[in-house]
Amino acid sequence: MPVKHVFLSPEQILFGIGAVEQLGDCVASIKGKKVFIVTDKLVAGLDSFKGVEKSLKDKNIEYHLYTDVEANPKDLQVDRGAKLYEQTHSDIILAVGGGSSIDSAKAIGIVVNNGGSIRDYEAYDSVVNKIPPLIAIPTTAGTGCEVSAWAVITNTRENYKFCPGGVRIIPKIALVDPKFTISMPPVITAATGMDALSHAVEAVCSPWAMPQTDAYAFSAIKLVVKHLGPAVADGSNMAAREGMAMAALEAGLAMNANTGGVHALGHQLSSQYGIPHGVAMGIMMPIVMGFNTIACNDQMVEIAHAMGEKVEGLSNAEAAARAAFAVLQLQKSLGLPTTLSECKADPALIPVCAKWALTDTSIPGNPRTMTREQIEGLFKKAF
Ligand SMILES: [Fe+2]
Repeated sequence: MPVKHVFLSPEQILFGIGAVEQLGDCVASIKGKKVFIVTDKLVAGLDSFKGVEKSLKDKNIEYHLYTDVEANPKDLQVDRGAKLYEQTHSDIILAVGGGSSIDSAKAIGIVVNNGGSIRDYEAYDSVVNKIPPLIAIPTTAGTGCEVSAWAVITNTRENYKFCPGGVRIIPKIALVDPKFTISMPPVITAATGMDALSHAVEAVCSPWAMPQTDAYAFSAIKLVVKHLGPAVADGSNMAAREGMAMAALEAGLAMNANTGGVHALGHQLSSQYGIPHGVAMGIMMPIVMGFNTIACNDQMVEIAHAMGEKVEGLSNAEAAARAAFAVLQLQKSLGLPTTLSECKADPALIPVCAKWALTDTSIPGNPRTMTREQIEGLFKKAF
């Protein structure tokens, strides 16, 4: 009998303010000799990054600092990183940063242990050999990639995003220190928080949802509703930062049940229009949720309830509609755009976006089948 549910997570999750001090011990426990640190120049210049280096130096652990990560990581940059990993004789990868750094680290690990180019691993579960041990320290609270089985990489030949994934690319250790998220400005805090919410919402409606992913997803939704506003309003609010770091982590664990149409369509808004991932998710979420409701009415009612909507006394359909309404209100209240017109996107690219959305790895995770015409209609609605 085929297995219906598989719950994926890192071997260890260390969470808490000051957790970064454990880094040296983590590397030593894996018996790593040379750490290949994947990050960007901005993060490498932060005060909190000194804690990363100190923890390694305290244990006499050698490292090579690779800071060439750009936003929306590209195939060529990943392939270059893999070569450098080999040239520096590294045996462990440490990713410090947002989704771009952690995804780059996963992708570099794929090429290092499987050969070729990262473009050879577009199909889900096409990675045969496990990546080298990866420790992930997130500096944003949203992507959940510190615990997820996915990476998002841009194919520069044809300009679309693809998502290599599977059990062999999950970080070995997620080290989550909410202190690292303090440097995020309000707009990035807001956008990455909406990304976390989209992971939880899509996990609940995924055909592969299971009790474990549901538990994390609903907890994450409640944490986002409670903490995202305060974290945007006052970035130094440590309780809110801690709440959002946990929300992102839980939503990331839930996301291992797959994402769906919000991600399949939203990815194209980033590659075609350059709209940041979290903003794209926030724009597409209410629209795709409305489209999906006939497939997962009960889940939408539960999402609405978790978001604090009063659903008692409403009809089933009315209660389900409150979920998308609540998401739209949250996006608006955070000052994020709610339409593609506000992002000055060109509607002429809708057919291209629809073409790539249909082949996106997240499409099978959508609870309702999508045709190309329907996808074009959903993009039009977003204008
Ligand atoms: Fe996402």
